[in-house]
Amino acid sequence: MDKLISNKGSTIQSAVPESYILPPERRPSVVPPCKTIPVIDLQGLDQDPADLIQQIIKASQEYGFFQLTNHGVSEELMQDVLVVGKEFYDLPVKEKEREVFGSYSIEVRKLGLLLLDLICEGLGLEYGYFGGELSQGLLMSINHYPLCPDPSLVLGLPKHGDPYLLTLLNQGHVAGLQVLKNEQWLAVEPLPNAFVVNINHMLQIISNGKLKSADHRVVPSSDVARTTVVTFISPSKDSLIEPAKSLLVNKSSPPLYKSFRFIDFLHAYITDVTGEGKDPLERFMV
Ligand code: OGA
Ligand code: NI
Repeated sequence: MDKLISNKGSTIQSAVPESYILPPERRPSVVPPCKTIPVIDLQGLDQDPADLIQQIIKASQEYGFFQLTNHGVSEELMQDVLVVGKEFYDLPVKEKEREVFGSYSIEVRKLGLLLLDLICEGLGLEYGYFGGELSQGLLMSINHYPLCPDPSLVLGLPKHGDPYLLTLLNQGHVAGLQVLKNEQWLAVEPLPNAFVVNINHMLQIISNGKLKSADHRVVPSSDVARTTVVTFISPSKDSLIEPAKSLLVNKSSPPLYKSFRFIDFLHAYITDVTGEGKDPLERFMV
């Protein structure tokens, strides 16, 4: 299993450094928190798995995002990883391996694979489609968004889509994440002990566009610092990515994307997103 822990930190300042200030047209407008991101209670899995799968597929089609409650990862571990994630910033590099990340990554990976199995069934793909190398990689990222003197001028994380398969975000209790739907930004309200789950670019391609990898961004706050722990389930570098063949049997559903190796997508993603702000999916469309 590939594993990587990274952090994207910065220090607290009394004024926004000039190099961070966005041109007026790219600054965030105020978005009220909303409850429109679907909330899915995983407890329903025992009573009515078919209904739960439908909820997951519907949310993934309409929003590309949902919040997941009663997911089985303990409240204690959810809290601990955020505390340790925050401390991570104050530690010398060689001390940054921590037990808590080990337990957390095992639990979250298990949950992610369960969700992928449910998505697999919901899409009507052959059993185990996302097993093996398509879900072999696990990346963890700790994001720290320090207090910002003027949140109207900057973004904590610019607009982007995640390039892997599936993201499970532990965002604690501080708001900041916004999701783009129909050209409008929706603020994702933090729910206690929930994961925010989102469809990534590779899942959009494999589902031949049925599931949506939605753009999102993070706005900073002037009152509370925010630490989040993000887990990405990723294909291995050499995995072959293509729209699942069983979704293409019908003539009315031709493939929307080409076949390619995941590593080639990653290279293009880095060039397109960091370079020109282009949509990285475009060059892989048929
Ligand atoms: C990311 C991301 C959101 C957050 O790391 O890709 O979108 O709230 N993070 O930290
Ligand atoms: Ni993201």
